Amino acid sequence: MAVTQTIKVEPTHPAVGARVTGVDLRRPIDSDVADELRAAFTRHAVICLPGQTIEAGHQVEFAAVFGPVDADDRQMDDPNQTQSRPGVMYVSNIREDGKLIGVLPDGEMHFHSDGMHRDNPYRATTLYAIKIPSHGGNTLFSSQAAAYEALPADMQQRLDGLKGKHVFNYNKTTRADMRTDPNETAFAIHPLVRTHPDSGRKSLYLSRLMTHSIVGLENAEGEELLLELIEHCEKPEFVYSHKWTPNDLVIWDNRCVNHARTDFSADEPRLLRRYTVSEPA
Ligand code: OGA
Ligand code: MN
Repeated sequence: MAVTQTIKVEPTHPAVGARVTGVDLRRPIDSDVADELRAAFTRHAVICLPGQTIEAGHQVEFAAVFGPVDADDRQMDDPNQTQSRPGVMYVSNIREDGKLIGVLPDGEMHFHSDGMHRDNPYRATTLYAIKIPSHGGNTLFSSQAAAYEALPADMQQRLDGLKGKHVFNYNKTTRADMRTDPNETAFAIHPLVRTHPDSGRKSLYLSRLMTHSIVGLENAEGEELLLELIEHCEKPEFVYSHKWTPNDLVIWDNRCVNHARTDFSADEPRLLRRYTVSEPA
């Protein structure tokens, strides 16, 4: 007989995020546990499972609870395993023989949503903390649903039918760099307001780092509207700041939360293992 796991879900912020305990991800995830994880994810949009001592394979099994796990060729050798796995990415500032072992290495990153520049953005992202600096390097999560719901009705109406142009510029980490980059980068167009298929909530789909402009309003007025919305979304009442502890496993919903990163010292190692979940093809 299976030993029942008592799952506890505790919100970490009134608008977004919860801490989920009572699950051991080294064990197979049975269908009841999977249902509870999905329910917590739909409700809180960001869930953190602390104290998980897991390998890459366990992280993939966890990610698969939420949809198809990306296994395209972004291969990098896992520093902790002899076996390397397709789909894995490391977020790290660690250099070996002068070469970075991961991506998104240094410092602050403005708010964004992973894959906004793609026609089919990533549904969710999972990050597993391996090495964390003593100060800073928090990941901030903003509820784009709570931000939408707090807008005055006339603004909600104004946004109805508008679309955003979102660009890929991961080597840029601020809006100023993104806006002034003369290089043609990958981009996609999506509605500025989207309805979540599971929660039914509407949310704002735009971000400081990736939303280049509003389609048809590529002028000062459009940029002013965009900045007003961006600043609205980043208000503390919509933002949970996650301070990482090694062995935290976090998954966030890119459809209804944006994320950002606070600054941290280049002298301390930071290493997280990342897998994304896509929309089914
Ligand atoms: C990411 C990302 C933020 C962080 O992995 O997509 O934005 O805190 N990471 O490293
Ligand atoms: Mn990101």
